[in-house]
Amino acid sequence: MLAGQLETLARHAARLTPIHLRELLAAPQRHAGFSRRAGPLLLDFSKQKLDEAALDALGAIAAECGWEQRRDAMFRGDILNASEQRPVLHTALRAGESRLPPLAPAAVREEIAATLQRMGDLVDALERGDASAYGIPAGITDVINLGIGGSDLGPRLAVEALSSFHTGRFRCHFLPNVDGHQTAALMRSLDPRRTLVLLVSKSFTTQETLLNGRVLRQWIAQAYAGDEAAAAAHFVAVSANVDAARALGIPEQRVLPMWDFVGGRYSVWSAVGLVLALAIGMPNFRAFLRGAAAMDDHFRSAAWRDNLPVLLALIGVWNRNGLGHAAHGVIPYSDGLAELPAFLQQLEMESLGKRVSAEGGALRQATVPVVWGSVGTNAQHAFFQALHQGSDVVPLDLLGVVRPSHTLKDNHDALLANLLAQGAAFALGKTTQQALAESREGSEAERAALAAQRTFPGDRPSTTVLLDALTPESLGALIALYEHKVLVQALLWDINAFDQWGVELGKTLAKSILPALTSGDVPPSFDASTTGLIREIRALG
Ligand code: F6P
Repeated sequence: MLAGQLETLARHAARLTPIHLRELLAAPQRHAGFSRRAGPLLLDFSKQKLDEAALDALGAIAAECGWEQRRDAMFRGDILNASEQRPVLHTALRAGESRLPPLAPAAVREEIAATLQRMGDLVDALERGDASAYGIPAGITDVINLGIGGSDLGPRLAVEALSSFHTGRFRCHFLPNVDGHQTAALMRSLDPRRTLVLLVSKSFTTQETLLNGRVLRQWIAQAYAGDEAAAAAHFVAVSANVDAARALGIPEQRVLPMWDFVGGRYSVWSAVGLVLALAIGMPNFRAFLRGAAAMDDHFRSAAWRDNLPVLLALIGVWNRNGLGHAAHGVIPYSDGLAELPAFLQQLEMESLGKRVSAEGGALRQATVPVVWGSVGTNAQHAFFQALHQGSDVVPLDLLGVVRPSHTLKDNHDALLANLLAQGAAFALGKTTQQALAESREGSEAERAALAAQRTFPGDRPSTTVLLDALTPESLGALIALYEHKVLVQALLWDINAFDQWGVELGKTLAKSILPALTSGDVPPSFDASTTGLIREIRALG
């Protein structure tokens, strides 16, 4: 950001710091003025420490940065990911469901449509129980999604969130980690002859996925007396590296492509979502795409002041660079959205966890906060103490679903009451006067000491996101909302949100440590701590 822009934020922050959220929320029009709707999503940011003047200043900064031009450049397929010289076209994956004229190149859209068709045909065949045309044996009951990061988090979030839409045709399992415990547990509980493995890896070089792929392949081969070809028939691959998938013995017919123009963390809309399509059926998968496309249309057409992704991004920039908050909490009051914090951790932190610009220059401002969270109300009984009374302020996104997919009204009312109560408690707090009035016993000093501990500072910001119901459409819209938030923040922060060089060093080191760990032959170039730990592990192992 430019020095002048940061000064503007600092000026508004200094003006607003002494104004407690209690005061801002006393205005009867506060909710109406500071909430916006797009389709099934309502964004209420009335509990953010913002006023019209600060919001205007943020909007002006977004305009100075040319957010609309950047948005259109992304939809068009310009090279936004400069370090890898790639366009960023995850929006093209759902463009078929959009109501606005498409911007993505026709050739790209045709390839996407053809792949979606192939995916649909495969899902139909598996649902019918006759995928022999694909070489897949009959009787498949269980599907393992074998992938990590973007090849796991998006599909897992969606499969769990949309459990009330499951067709029940397949049991779906997720195997991301190289930790053998879960692999062993799956092999213990599943029938290899009835299991289909979806090997999902954009690069097809990811250690965890390939290693687990080998293990599962052996496990299935054993069930066929070592017949490798029979085992290979239980594998479908999704990858941008089609040749590597074929080299593993998976014929092209069972390899669904993805493309370099789709980042892993933006890929649930592609064939990476195959496990989701198998869980909820193709019509619901298309509804999921439709929900995202509706958010794309909103992002492309609404003025910044009514534009949910832009507002969410500006609030994030305000909290990070105006008010200086280094963490951001995501609390879904919905078990269905329990995986949302983990999904957003990758989406936001892998995209925006950068400290230099796309041109390599040091940035003037802080970038992504630590994103974390967990499901409400459980979180209230775990870490909310620190959020209410700890020394650091953590701005929150509190998410709720208005209409549940069950009929337990009392449960749902209690859930939503807690969501509303927490947002109010964080904002309003409880004054020492109020706390004093509550404790009547003991000496004055004792009462004062207790009241101090029972005081809630309040003035802690949150945004409330309400989904009308948790459906394929609303979930699609919600994920797309956060994707576009990331784009706008990347623009304001002048960083490339579509590469992830920061994950490479650890991967390279792991490759050199593995042989030392297995052989005990530790090269002298290893640091003292790593060398010592290898020796400790080998001594016990
Ligand atoms: O290590 C990070 C990462 O590259 C993520 O960006 C990606 O989502 C994940 O690994 C999995 O990568 P792949 O789909 O290529 O196996």
